[in-house]
Amino acid sequence: MKDYNYSRLAKYYDILENVESIESFNPVLLKILRKHNVKSILDMTCGTGVQAGFLHKKGLKVKASDYNAQMIKIARSKFKKVDFRKGDIRTSKYGKFDAVISIFNAIGHLSRKDFEKAIRNIGKNLNDKGLYIFDIFCYDYMKKNFIKHEFIDFAKEVNDTKFVRFNNNKMDKKKKILTMNQKIYVQKGLDKPMIFKESWDLQIYSSKELKRILEKNGSQVVEFLDMSGKKYKPNSSLILTIARKK
Ligand SMILES: C[S@@+](CC[C@H](N)C(=O)[O-])C[C@H]1O[C@@H](n2cnc3c(N)ncnc32)[C@H](O)[C@@H]1O
Repeated sequence: MKDYNYSRLAKYYDILENVESIESFNPVLLKILRKHNVKSILDMTCGTGVQAGFLHKKGLKVKASDYNAQMIKIARSKFKKVDFRKGDIRTSKYGKFDAVISIFNAIGHLSRKDFEKAIRNIGKNLNDKGLYIFDIFCYDYMKKNFIKHEFIDFAKEVNDTKFVRFNNNKMDKKKKILTMNQKIYVQKGLDKPMIFKESWDLQIYSSKELKRILEKNGSQVVEFLDMSGKKYKPNSSLILTIARKK
């Protein structure tokens, strides 16, 4: 499995991943958590803290962790009152929470075997009947809507720096793996641009497969939603899964 190098790009993460659009999911998440009366949260792939920081401000008890030290450093600098730790969703234990979250396709970075390991470990961090909430690229959507040609998926100017990202992706339909090949240009004024080349694999799942894997590893699906919180239909690229510890 190829790893995405968050370290090199951590300081640009909020720009390149368009943090405003990630933030737009926060009210949906909060509504789901309130509906299930969740009071304590563990975010196990917190990145730069987009969900953890928001939920803390909304009065939930929040702890957050991430595998990548650079991402954690940025999260800490943005949200000084949140307890951020460096940790691994497959193995770290922090106590018992009403819900564990892993948002913005983070789980796609794990191999299928490691995803199962993560579900079992998440169970150890949950109270009885605790919730596990995550989103992931949906195979049913991807097999019909996959873009085969190279395309520019992001272009933005911030102060005097331009950011442009090219994507040239491949999909292995049999293995259900999306290989993202990206070229990222970061150019201050008319200086020589910094060019980052990234290539990494993302696992993609059908809802049927998610249900089977969760059940096999001590969890059961409560519902599948889209990112606006409506019942999932395969016209959405991401499938938001609400699962409960059995
Ligand atoms: C796409 S980012 C999402 C971050 C954040 N949730 C957001 O919405 O911006 C995926 C994050 O998962 C983290 N990650 C990948 N593998 C991990 C693992 N095994 N344990 C914990 N975090 C991991 C990466 O370091 C990265 O910060």
